[in-house]
This record gives sequence, C-alpha cells and structure tokens, in this order.
Amino acid sequence: MRRLQKLSYFALALLVLASSVLIAQAQPPVTVYKLRNAHGVEAQITNYGGILMSLKVPDRNGKFDDVVLGFNTPEDYMKKNDPYFGAIIGRYGNRIAKGRFKLNGVEYKLAVNNGENHLHGGIKGFDKVVWTGRETRTKDGPAVVLTYLSKDGEEGYPGNLRVTVVYRLTNNNELRIDYSATTDKDTVLNLTHHSYFNFLGEGNGDILNHQVKIDADEFVPTDAGSIPLGTLSKVVGTPFDFLKSTAIGARINDDNEQLKLGNGYDHTFVIRGRAGTLRHAASVYEPTTGRTMEVFTTEPGMQLYTGNFLNGTLTGKSGKPYPRRSGFCLETQHYPDSPNQPSFPTTTLRKGAAYHSTTIYKFGYQK
Ligand code: BGC
Repeated sequence: MRRLQKLSYFALALLVLASSVLIAQAQPPVTVYKLRNAHGVEAQITNYGGILMSLKVPDRNGKFDDVVLGFNTPEDYMKKNDPYFGAIIGRYGNRIAKGRFKLNGVEYKLAVNNGENHLHGGIKGFDKVVWTGRETRTKDGPAVVLTYLSKDGEEGYPGNLRVTVVYRLTNNNELRIDYSATTDKDTVLNLTHHSYFNFLGEGNGDILNHQVKIDADEFVPTDAGSIPLGTLSKVVGTPFDFLKSTAIGARINDDNEQLKLGNGYDHTFVIRGRAGTLRHAASVYEPTTGRTMEVFTTEPGMQLYTGNFLNGTLTGKSGKPYPRRSGFCLETQHYPDSPNQPSFPTTTLRKGAAYHSTTIYKFGYQK
C-alpha cells in the first residue's frame, strides 16, 4: 500500500514537472519587430506586452526623432516597473472600482493594484505578458500580428479570451491598431494602447506646449480615486474644452476641482459621433518641430493623460530622465468603471460575439 502511495506521488511529481516544462516551452520567445514604411517612418514593437518601443517620424525639416517614451530593450521594460510605456492594455484599460463587478448576477473579484481599485488589467495585465508575434506585409504597409489567450480567471476575469492585436505602419504614415477578441463565457473587455508621446523627441522636456484639439463636448468627471461619478460634464467654459486647438499647459494649473483631483488631465473625453464607427477624435500640433498627429477611433471615449505621475526617476532610451509631464497619452477606450455604471456604453462581451476596435494615429508635419 505504502509502495503504491509512493509510486503515485512519484508519478504526480513527474506530471507536474512535465507540464511545467510544457508551459515554459509554450511561451514564445521575446522578439523585437522593426517596421519601416515607404517614407522611412520606423516603429519597433516587442511581443512582450505588445509594447511600441520606438517610433521615428520626421519634423518639418525632415529630421527623424523618436517620439515615444520608453526603453532600449524588452528586458528593461520587465525590470523597471514603468507606467505602461507604449503597451497594450487589457483586459480593462483604466479603472474598475474596488476591482469588483457583477455580470449575469455573479460578482467577480479582480486583482486590485491601484489603491482599492483595479487598473489596466491588474497585477499582470496584457502589458506584462508575452504575446505570440508574427511579422507580415499588408497592402498598406508592414504589420505585426500579436495574439494572446487570456485564460478563464486570469486576474479575476471570466472566460477564455482570445485576443488579436494588429499593429500596421501604413504608407500614409499611420500607426493603425486593430483589436479583435472572442470569449467562451460572457466577460468584460476594454482594450487600449498606452504610448506616451513627446513630439520634441523622447527625453526632450515637457509636453505643455503641444497644442491639442479634442472632438468632445463632454468628459467623464471622477472622484479622488479617478473613479467616475457616473455623470458626464459639459466641457464648455472649463479647462476641458479642447474643441479649439489649445496648448496642454494653457490651463493645466487652473483652479479647477477636476484638474486638482486628476493631478492634471487624466480624464476620459466623450468623442463626438457614433461609437463603433471610425471617426476623428483628436489633433495634436507641436509648434517647434511642426509635428502633427491625428487620432481616429471606433471607441466611445479617449483618455487624455498628461504624464502627471512621471517624476524623473525613470531614465529613457537616450539616457535622459522622464520628469513630470514629459509625455502625454491619448488612450482610446470605453469610459472607466463601465461594468459598474449602467448609464455608460456597455463593455460586456458576450460568449460567441466578436469584439472589434480600431485606432489610428496618423503622423505629419506643418511647414
Ligand atoms: C491613467 C493614469 C495612470 C497611468 C499609469 C493612465 O492611463 O489614466 O491615472 O496613472 O495610466 O501610468
């Protein structure tokens, strides 16, 4: 009997060993893909976190600079505990209050990693997993296809979720991101991309002089934990009115409760037009270099985050520190905490349904 027990322990140990070897093998190697379009615009993307590591675009004099914050190697991103530089964010971009939500009458408890709340997919979100990557050529330009299976229960979310993200660098100088996903159980999903842009070139000072126009009449006001109050506020007459192109820094220190709560801009704007259709969301212009960016999205909202929590402790690709407000993010997404906010557009993805989302960042310059 004892021998039989010993034998079965031995068999169990062997099984555990074999399966961990298999799992280790199943993880694809970490790679950096280099895309270059017909105009010499270059993007480097790694399958670790789906991170856009660099993006080189011309200024008005034809000088190319890297306009996204980040590091030189995928290992740097693994080590440095960075604030989601250039990453794919999932399953849920932004916050879910107290890491809890109810779906079909069941309460799900998510990983809590931002005070008492869940942020950007939890402790090990899509920004920290290794995706399966494949480089390909499309008729519009070079592309990288990334796929990931997020297992039922990962970070507390229901359903085996199969996600595909295609980054395409088109010959129109667009970085086009197409997201798609399916699940085998009803779940919630809100994918986004988290590049910090600086059109002066990464590491070259703050972004306060960049002029931004946002096609939004309303934004989502939040509490001190950046959780939505559940209402929408009109931008008119407030520092959130970007209907006319305005410098990011023009009103950022105004005596405004929402700006104080957010430490600056850290809010979702409600993008005009019908969600689900690809439409213009924002324009950016940097006067010194002439660099411009147009943002198009199918998402209902877009977060303007002005790098308020950067504090100079991280040093970037060219050895220069990243101080407060040295990058800004335009994260196309659903509104925060939608799973708990019945009046917000739904982020529920039903079993068998197909999730699709597209965002385009189009780069140019003005003479
Ligand atoms: C959020 C910020 C957060 C940052 C993390 C942004 O998307 O809106 O509140 O601090 O990500 O780097």
